[in-house]
Amino acid sequence: MDRRFVYLDYNATTPLHPEVKAEMIADLELYANASSMHEAGRRARARIEKARSSVARLIGAPDPACVYFTSGGSESNNTVFGTMYDLGRRGRVDEAKSHAGRRQKIITTAIEHPCVLNAARRLADEGFPVVFLGVDAQGRVDFAELERELDPERSRGGPALLVSVMAANNEIGTLEDIPAIARLAKAAGAFVHTDATQAAGKIPIDVESWGVDYLTLSCHKIYGPKGIGALYVRKTAPIEPLIRGGHQEKGVRAGTYNNLGIYGFGKAAELALAELPSYASRVAALRERLRAGIVERIPSVHVNGHPTKVLPNTLNVSFPGAEGEAILLSLDLEGIEVSTGSACASGSLEPSHVLMATGVGPELAHGSIRFSLGRDTTEADIDYVLERLPPIIARLRRMSTVPASLSATT
Ligand SMILES: Cc1ncc(COP(=O)(O)O)c(C=O)c1O
Repeated sequence: MDRRFVYLDYNATTPLHPEVKAEMIADLELYANASSMHEAGRRARARIEKARSSVARLIGAPDPACVYFTSGGSESNNTVFGTMYDLGRRGRVDEAKSHAGRRQKIITTAIEHPCVLNAARRLADEGFPVVFLGVDAQGRVDFAELERELDPERSRGGPALLVSVMAANNEIGTLEDIPAIARLAKAAGAFVHTDATQAAGKIPIDVESWGVDYLTLSCHKIYGPKGIGALYVRKTAPIEPLIRGGHQEKGVRAGTYNNLGIYGFGKAAELALAELPSYASRVAALRERLRAGIVERIPSVHVNGHPTKVLPNTLNVSFPGAEGEAILLSLDLEGIEVSTGSACASGSLEPSHVLMATGVGPELAHGSIRFSLGRDTTEADIDYVLERLPPIIARLRRMSTVPASLSATT
């Protein structure tokens, strides 16, 4: 096969959907400050509210007013943890008082994105009891541990204020059982947050049946522009601004509206919802073609993550005896773009915290590659990877001092 360009890093970010791009260009002139009372301002505001409704539909939120625009997933997650700081610190008295009271304990998982992990660590530094739940070998939350941590009689730190578990993991694609987690957390009186940054547009999301109080979204993962995201906040859940200033977003998120980003987000959300069924079955078939091809052509590989409870587009594979960075750079020379661990962690020599939490050990964690497929991926792309990858792994293994493990699993 001739050399081609194959982008398989859609979990890091996605290109603009052509229809999103067209809509953003068409709306470029709707530049007015959406807080202005004149006609141009009112038109921009109406366009923003239309986008808010589209985002609400994507996550099954009956009331668009529960959707707050932010700059992205990191900000949305930090807003939730910042709110918990305020609640836990002050034992705030409001409609949430009976619910939150003086609760301070934060329960999250060891495999969250760094923006959750570091926000939780910050609360721990401030004296909040923080628990990072472990996961099983496939990356699923340990329910026995969750139940124990939710029970003040059986664990330390008092009653839980917040349970925050990601809907889908960015590195290995494992899906968590958010409705079941939310049921347990609610029964214990805790608020529930899920980071659905990677789940959006890839699996159906329904804030009602999931039973969450907060849900995080980021637009650049769903074929929209960067620098725009959203936080869903259930009407009964408290929320405090992370960024203080003007009265935008009902005082929850100050700053002049990012008109163009929001217009693009609205269109991206609308398309993500409409295209989800065809997208999911198409990329899942391509992912399976890639998985089966790798297992057939390359000895001693380890497929990370859950075999079925997984994002349709994500395949994470460890190649013992070959370093992830070396594989990535070799693939890059062939025009194939992937990542090792998470994009944010690449460049660091630390093994992936997600893979380490699944217990695969440092060697497999170091030799892992994340292939994340997207709406533009074709069979020819997959076949090209299957042609170029095996000789790369064979060459790197020959150069390596570490023998490839013989314990191949898929
Ligand atoms: C699971 C998850 N949460 C949060 C983020 C951060 O989102 P953003 O880039 O919009 O800040 C990412 C991005 O990689 C992610 O994968």
